[in-house]
Amino acid sequence: MKILYFTATGNSLHIAKSIAQSLKGELLSIPQMIKEGRFEFTDEKIGLLFPLYGYGVPSYIVDFIKRAKFNTNYLFGISTFGVYSGAVATHLMDVAKEAGHHFSYVNTIKMVDNYLPGFNMAKEGANEGKKGTEERLETIKSDIANSKEWIIPENFLRKLSFNIMHSIKKPVSKKQLKLHIYGEGIENYVYTDNNCTGCGLCANVCPVNNIVVDKENKTISLKGDCFGCFSCLHNCPQNNIHIKGEVSSDRYRNSNITLAEIVKSNS
Ligand SMILES: Cc1cc2nc3c(=O)[nH]c(=O)nc-3n(C[C@H](O)[C@H](O)[C@H](O)COP(=O)(O)O)c2cc1C
Repeated sequence: MKILYFTATGNSLHIAKSIAQSLKGELLSIPQMIKEGRFEFTDEKIGLLFPLYGYGVPSYIVDFIKRAKFNTNYLFGISTFGVYSGAVATHLMDVAKEAGHHFSYVNTIKMVDNYLPGFNMAKEGANEGKKGTEERLETIKSDIANSKEWIIPENFLRKLSFNIMHSIKKPVSKKQLKLHIYGEGIENYVYTDNNCTGCGLCANVCPVNNIVVDKENKTISLKGDCFGCFSCLHNCPQNNIHIKGEVSSDRYRNSNITLAEIVKSNS
């Protein structure tokens, strides 16, 4: 089994690792695969593990799925989310159809919500382990072990919320700013304090090499490729990187995952 994963703050990696350990899977980081130009995968079972953004599949994962070739009889997708998973399964199935893939199993798993404009990370982080995550994980492992064919059902309201979310191109009110997934132009919402040491960790945790570090002047600048994963914001050792509308300056990383693992996954 191969498990292709992306993570910004460790939730999806925690799930990917746990499934890989229990079911003897090989972990492959999606950012590494993209950087190596590796898009074809062959195995008895192949899984995708990623966080959900804006009630759907992150654009970065959509692009990967469209470029990838999966030679397998059992393709599964698991999305981690914080509060409301919207229509992620429907979105994933639509993308898969367009790309010519067939998913046998799609499920979601509730974890800490790392969306800074929506949540106070000190409070939300304290919910780790309290969202039924581990119980759901056991079900998912058993389903995959038994090659269960199942797609999590999503009703009309979920699809509507996804469509509304994705029709917002640019937030026009404070409320929309809180909800919006930023997407294009996210660099206009990111700002820094003056505590940068020029360590470059932000660049190492960025999956798309979007951050340029000026080590001499101890500043950073963003290129135009950000898709809004918040990895730099959460993992900066100086807590120097911020986003407009963030509820507090607290940050989060899954307690089962080290910073070194995130660097290894995304650099
Ligand atoms: C840009 C962005 C958008 C998000 N949108 C949603 C959302 O619509 N619904 C939700 O429940 N969680 C949302 N989240 C929370 C993440 O899906 C969740 O915290 C996930 O487990 C993070 O995984 P990771 O630690 O592997 O990066 C969002 C997070 C980010 C950064």
